[in-house]
Amino acid sequence: MELQINGKTYEVQADADTPLLWVIRDELGLTGTKYGCGLAQCGACSVLIDGAVVRSCVMPVDGAAGRKITTIEAIEADDIGKRVVAAWVRHQVPQCGYCQSGQVMAATALLKQKPHPTDQDIAAAMVNLCRCGTYNAIKAAVHDLAGGGADQAAAAGAAGNAPQHPAGKAAAAGALALAVLGTPGHAPARQGGEG
Ligand code: FES
Ligand code: FES
Repeated sequence: MELQINGKTYEVQADADTPLLWVIRDELGLTGTKYGCGLAQCGACSVLIDGAVVRSCVMPVDGAAGRKITTIEAIEADDIGKRVVAAWVRHQVPQCGYCQSGQVMAATALLKQKPHPTDQDIAAAMVNLCRCGTYNAIKAAVHDLAGGGADQAAAAGAAGNAPQHPAGKAAAAGALALAVLGTPGHAPARQGGEG
């Protein structure tokens, strides 16, 4: 079957009920999308399909065929995704970074659907788990984007209300980059959950 991922067409060999996550990571090598629970609970495996956030660990690959799939590797090619990544760095959101691909996808989907989400909208949409407890920073970054003011000011080079320590921002950018590229310690885990 053919998959359209990040603007490219991939011919993949997989059983129809194989989870999309396995194909993305193991067959295509796009390891920025993470395996967490495998049960649609944590959101680490989130991708966009036709602009909506989907948990790819429970999405059969044939359900994604012919649809527009976006993974974290291409999120900055999307105007909203690019703004989300910039806000994540500005607010120094990532710690270990493992959950952050999914968090960025969830925030991008939310802002595509609702450019100015309310607190309730944010609370309802940003439900991915983070074992490092970055929830407050995630909330601040999405609020920043929802309001637009601080985000646009920062984009223009002005100081926003976010932490501005250069070392912290570099660390946040590094953690996000590691999450996207994948790290040996966070190798793909299939059904067994190892590694
Ligand atoms: S929700 Fe898919 S890995 Fe947790
Ligand atoms: S699990 Fe470490 S940053 Fe979320």
